[in-house]
Amino acid sequence: MQYICLVSALFVLVLSRGIPTIPQPRIDVWSGPNCHMCEVILNNVRYEYRNNFTNVTPDQLRQSLYQQCDLNLNGFTDQECHKIADEDSADILQQLQEGTSSYRICQRELLC
Ligand SMILES: *[C@@H]1O[C@H](CO)[C@@H](O)[C@H](O)[C@H]1NC(C)=O
Repeated sequence: MQYICLVSALFVLVLSRGIPTIPQPRIDVWSGPNCHMCEVILNNVRYEYRNNFTNVTPDQLRQSLYQQCDLNLNGFTDQECHKIADEDSADILQQLQEGTSSYRICQRELLC
């Protein structure tokens, strides 16, 4: 009986220490609500181009993403949004051209 109490006490102790941390996305401020925000931003960009990215350049897409970042975010998250636009606009453009869903793109950006 004492043994069982000891074991369960240890168990509670381990649990209260917290669940082992899952590897964080590279920007933790983005997790959670930022998944939704990422989808909103991409869907607004799709709307802007009527979902036709045939002759869109990475630079054009970057400018559009900047605009959407500024419209939907502020402060640090806006800066991070600009950083993603800088680093990944060519990659995001390719996925948009291939018809990848916004959610999948946001997953690849580690925001969802
Ligand atoms: C997409 O845009 C290009 C020009 O930018 C045009 O030639 C093409 O017909 C458009 N495609 C569709 C499906 O509207």
